[in-house]
Amino acid sequence: MHSVGIEKISFYTPPFYLNLSTLAEQRGQDPEKFRRGLGQEKMSQPAPDEDIITMAVKAADVILSETDKASIETILFATESGVDQSKSAGLYAHQLLQMPETCRIVEVKQACYAATAALQLAAGMIAWRPGKKVLILASDVARYDLDSPGEATQGAGAVALLVSHDPKIAELEWGCGLHSEGIHDFWRPNHRSTPLVDGKFSTKAYLNSLKFSWQGYFTETQRALTDHQWLCYHTPFCGMARKAHRELLHIHDLAPDTIELAPTLAYNREIGNAYTASLYLSLISLLETTEVDLSGQRVGCFSYGSGATGEFFSLKIQPGYQTHLPTAYHRKMLSDRQALDFATYQDWHEQGTARSEEDFVTPELTAGYPRFTGVTGQARCYK
Ligand code: CAA
Repeated sequence: MHSVGIEKISFYTPPFYLNLSTLAEQRGQDPEKFRRGLGQEKMSQPAPDEDIITMAVKAADVILSETDKASIETILFATESGVDQSKSAGLYAHQLLQMPETCRIVEVKQACYAATAALQLAAGMIAWRPGKKVLILASDVARYDLDSPGEATQGAGAVALLVSHDPKIAELEWGCGLHSEGIHDFWRPNHRSTPLVDGKFSTKAYLNSLKFSWQGYFTETQRALTDHQWLCYHTPFCGMARKAHRELLHIHDLAPDTIELAPTLAYNREIGNAYTASLYLSLISLLETTEVDLSGQRVGCFSYGSGATGEFFSLKIQPGYQTHLPTAYHRKMLSDRQALDFATYQDWHEQGTARSEEDFVTPELTAGYPRFTGVTGQARCYK
């Protein structure tokens, strides 16, 4: 059997962020609650001329060659902040990336879990169509109500994964543990632009799903926890990943530092939640910020999407993976970001959550290709 997995991977996050110390000051909170309690420093904020489509295109554009584009037979766009109830966001991305017409394009949804569903679907598609590739775009804007408990866990970003029979970064290993239950821990009815959240319940549901998924994975693969050199978690905020890590290691009577966690959270701490992209952002963080050569090492991954579906699976890092990562580009993107003042943050938040049936034009605030220029004749426009 040919191996299947991640051939290329990249992320994009907007060039603006709100410092959580600014948020704490404005909300009358102790900054240490956000910094040490939630484990977050900053949250990326999209300007009004950015959206899930511009972010996904920018994530993909740096890794895709013309040869890749010609081999991509499917685009799976994973998001929980979709912009249309009918048309896949992937169709906009396909057009903006100037890809061949010989492509199938679908949007995948199950809260923050959807990109992992896309990865498993891609593996099956590639096994069936050797030589073809699948592009996964996971892109989200995590936006909660102003002055709500979730506000400090906002963020935005996209991850692009090129999945193929030539996994230069990480091979998807056989075996997984699955868990699903119908609950209301975090959900967003069609009439709302921000989610409804039972925050405390959601953290318990996440941990329950983790334990169940891990047991299923262990039963199927017989791989012990210590057979994994690293663990990456869906990271709505770094404190949640830390809790998950403690819980999982505790089941096996292991101290949390038996498996190091910090490198898997470095980027998430700076960006905030990016829903479907968060687990894969944590993976890129591990690949790009640890000093250790990860070649041949196994990474256990837990993907969670409220509602709720969880999955535990694993990846085997490939020799020479470092040379296939756009690490310098990512670091520059993060260091070049600008801090927003609080008034601009609130203004952009209001614009992002407004529902308008009128056409509008967005101000030019972000550089590079593409920009979301507004809505004309009820259709989204990009330049
Ligand atoms: N100094 C240091 N730490 C402090 C502190 C201080 N002054 N004040 C509080 N803390 C700590 C608390 O002890 C707590 O840590 P522990 O959980 O380890 O005890 C942490 O900071 C957070 O404090 P609270 O629990 O009081 O915070 P809160 O109730 O205001 O908000 C939350 C927490 C409910 C998770 C909220 O952020 C929220 O609703 N978030 C959105 C939902 C979410 O992310 N859920 C996660 C699971 S669901 C999921 O993963 C899907 C998804 O992406 C949304």
